[in-house]
Amino acid sequence: MSPATWTPARSRDELVALCRQHWNPTAATLYALAHRTVESHAQGCEVIDEDGRRFLDFACSYGVFIVGHANPQVQARTLAQLEQAALLPWGVAHPACAAFMAKLASLLPADLDRVVIGNSGAEITELTLRAVLAAQRPRRRIVVMRHAYHGKTLGALNLLGQAGHRQPFLPLMQEVDFVPFGDLPAMRRAVTPEVAAVFLEPILGGAYLQVPPPGYVGQVAALCREAGALLVADEIQTAFGRCGRLFAFDEDPTVLPDVVLLSKGITGGHTAMAVAVMREALVQRVQSHPDFHPRWLGSDSGGSPYACAAGLAALEFIEQHELPRRARLLGAQLQAGLARAAAAHPQLVLDAPGVGLMTGLKMRNPAVETAVAAGLARRGVHAGHSLNEKAEHPVLRFYPPLTVTAAQIDQVLAALHEVLAELARRPAWTHDLANQVVKRQYRLPEGLLRRLAGSPQRGPQRGPQRGAQPFTTC
Ligand SMILES: Cc1ncc(COP(=O)(O)O)c(C=O)c1O
Repeated sequence: MSPATWTPARSRDELVALCRQHWNPTAATLYALAHRTVESHAQGCEVIDEDGRRFLDFACSYGVFIVGHANPQVQARTLAQLEQAALLPWGVAHPACAAFMAKLASLLPADLDRVVIGNSGAEITELTLRAVLAAQRPRRRIVVMRHAYHGKTLGALNLLGQAGHRQPFLPLMQEVDFVPFGDLPAMRRAVTPEVAAVFLEPILGGAYLQVPPPGYVGQVAALCREAGALLVADEIQTAFGRCGRLFAFDEDPTVLPDVVLLSKGITGGHTAMAVAVMREALVQRVQSHPDFHPRWLGSDSGGSPYACAAGLAALEFIEQHELPRRARLLGAQLQAGLARAAAAHPQLVLDAPGVGLMTGLKMRNPAVETAVAAGLARRGVHAGHSLNEKAEHPVLRFYPPLTVTAAQIDQVLAALHEVLAELARRPAWTHDLANQVVKRQYRLPEGLLRRLAGSPQRGPQRGPQRGAQPFTTC
């Protein structure tokens, strides 16, 4: 092996300066502003920074590290595959991929057994949208939930239920209807015989974590069946035990989606992978398109043996350790604690939505969300800050690894109690004033942001100085 040539940044300021120069100036400034430390490594439920400070990771990259960071069982099998063959050209069969696909299909209802692999959630959403339009031609109408998140690439953006984030890129596909999540009469009006598909997160994730009324998913599935529309279940956040079941849709045994989208936890955080599991009948209809090309249902770098080995190992770990059951039990503890926090501070927290270990706090406004996330970070807890300044009442997510312990949950709840008590001592109007700043955070002059951040050093500047750039996540 050749010696490592990469030298890590020597200090946090240097890292921020490098990020500012080569990545995104505004993101670097916000990183400095939030006084984020430099992460060094992670193990189990903990992230450890360069100074050895430990953080309980209840953000988990919005649910990616479902089996815990650097899970030894999953890591060993992933590394073994890396040494044998990491990537193979498209179309080459590999035992690791075959085993992964067979395992995944075995966890889903029998009819769902065609596995299409890509790299990101947005990519797999786009691929599914193409498949839907090809199979359902001439139907083109798509129904999506208001506030839904299916990714932000241009194709996926057609289905983004967050109007503010679509606006700059209009005109997009005209035939998309957005309906309020959980509103069955609105869904009934929208799902007409012209509809090609309904894209649905069974529990709405993103910055708007929302649990539907009982029976909602089953009733949407029935409406799709009646209208001949396909049902695409986006389980990118909800799958693999996160919500206390292997998949959120299978709460109702009558629900059989035509496509299930999966990503995030699928490789246990060892590499990026996204999957659409489709029903055979749908794939056949796509293939019957006169211009069909096999690459409609795949991508060159999607489904590498490396990713598939990680996926198989993660799925086996989830099954062996009964992580869905664990999420149900420990989720009850976390949800109860969050509900108590919400009830104690109604001026800051509006609600504590959640299912299993997919939980959160619906905040008064983005400024309160930011302040609580920062207060928790100071106390050694990472929570899933939505960074969504356009959401009126964003939900700060608590998505720990499903390997979390009861003691770790208690520790987080104690930290949360302190943070909320501290914020509650300030008059409510200060939170609303702070919100005016947070709402403009990506548009404030960079000089001002840098002063607020304590003037991190700039890296050597080559070329013209760049200004603030938009930087948003879900
Ligand atoms: C439900 C859901 N769908 C799709 C996506 C898009 O995935 P990616 O960020 O990998 O493109 C996300 C990402 O957070 C998601 O939560």
